[in-house]
Amino acid sequence: AGPCDIYASGGTPCIAAHSTTRALYSSYNGALYQVQRGSDKAKTDIKPLSAGGVANAAAQDSFCNNTTCLITIIYDQSGRGNHLTQAPPGGFKGPEANGYDNLASAIGAPVTLNGQKAYGVFVSPGTGYRNNAASGTAKGDEPEGMYAVLDGTHYNQYCCFDYGNAETSSLDTGNGHMEAIYFGDCTSWGSGAGSGPWIMADLENGLFSGLSSGKNTNDPPISYRFTTAVVKGRPNQWAIRGANAASGSLSTFYSGVRPSASGYNPMSKEGAIILGIGGDNSISAQGTFYEGAMTSGYPSDATENAVQANIVAAKYATTSLTSGPSLTVGSSVSLRVTTSSYTDRYLAHNSSSAIITQAVSASSSSTLKQQATWIVRTGLGGGNSGCFSFESRDTPGSYMRHYDFALRLGTNDGTKQFAEDATFCPQTALNGLSADSSIRSWNYPTRYVRHYANVAYVAGNGGVHMFDAAASFNDDVSWVVASGFA
Ligand code: AHR
Ligand code: AHR
Ligand code: AHR
Repeated sequence: AGPCDIYASGGTPCIAAHSTTRALYSSYNGALYQVQRGSDKAKTDIKPLSAGGVANAAAQDSFCNNTTCLITIIYDQSGRGNHLTQAPPGGFKGPEANGYDNLASAIGAPVTLNGQKAYGVFVSPGTGYRNNAASGTAKGDEPEGMYAVLDGTHYNQYCCFDYGNAETSSLDTGNGHMEAIYFGDCTSWGSGAGSGPWIMADLENGLFSGLSSGKNTNDPPISYRFTTAVVKGRPNQWAIRGANAASGSLSTFYSGVRPSASGYNPMSKEGAIILGIGGDNSISAQGTFYEGAMTSGYPSDATENAVQANIVAAKYATTSLTSGPSLTVGSSVSLRVTTSSYTDRYLAHNSSSAIITQAVSASSSSTLKQQATWIVRTGLGGGNSGCFSFESRDTPGSYMRHYDFALRLGTNDGTKQFAEDATFCPQTALNGLSADSSIRSWNYPTRYVRHYANVAYVAGNGGVHMFDAAASFNDDVSWVVASGFA
């Protein structure tokens, strides 16, 4: 059985079932998600390997070979057509054309389930999916349940990495107009014990960790690499539950009456579905989603416990985020441009901490040689991702990082933001040459280290910035990584 077979036997069937990693019904063999590739904009559906099985990641890998791919649709497996697509502008605009949110990279969150490779949905700030015309979702004070499997190490303090029920207008229409799982360490409204991250309920104009607005210490920090998050609500009752998605059982962090703050009892749920954003399209949060579902009716704890056992049996595990030529921590490297007419240029910082490409050769000054030399370090951010950071040869303690998508040299200030901005995951080069590498940003997997007009960025393959230009993208993001000059 799959999670949604279990919810159905409990009398609380799924009305939305979303997963890029596996079928959530034992008989489901339809499309899980759609990807679009950058090279020719063609789209394809990714299905399970067999009914009820794990996604066919190999089909994605071959379709996306030597180009980039975005997740364009996360299909609803429930049969209701509650698919998630690129979120439109709402109270806040997204970064894409016409205020739409970004789509997630198809390769940002590789994992294995029972040893088989699959990809999750890595949500960077700016990324969001939505369905404002969902059918069968809870309205008003109707009962519902929901769960999601998330990466408990990928989060931030901004609003709001959510999955669940939200406004159909993409606007903040008032207290009680949402009921969604929130994950992260935002403290603008509520918080739990310690410093987070926490599972909370986004009920609109408030992230709730328990009975009262504000801090509820019964809601513990939870950061398992694979975390199960549960929120459910019915008239004057709701609950938050959580677990390690790789072992053990669910704990209940809150179960009780609705908040006394005005507007939350009764609820005024509207029934849209969001992923990665707040109800009003707040787009500043990050997180990773692997699977989740929403139900009609308030699931029993026993039903959810059986869903958790099913998730554990799916055996989520980590896998490598890198590919292509390997890098050795502690080695000194240079990165040479491969775009024709520019192949004498190397990635180098200048005297004002910008990172650009400069022509460097054996006869260059030792200053320039050092500016074009980087020491490979274990990735400062992203946990044990196997990705890397690049420390400046001439400025120890300073690293290659992006800021506003421009690469620059920055002093490691010890923040999580710096660490994540300074972490890069080398990939098989998009130019198709096995000796070269393309180097993607850890926290913006759609973005690769690129030179454009001889200035370095983390760039997407087609997008709103001039440096995202599709022309010459594959060559501009492919580098020869060789021994450092100094
Ligand atoms: O409730 C927290 C957030 O407040 C909601 O997600 C958003 O719609 C509003 O800004
Ligand atoms: O480079 C993109 C973002 O810009 C970085 O993640 C952040 O530090 C800055 O705001
Ligand atoms: O960085 C040099 C060139 O500038 C890139 O190859 C091209 O994309 C841009 O015009």
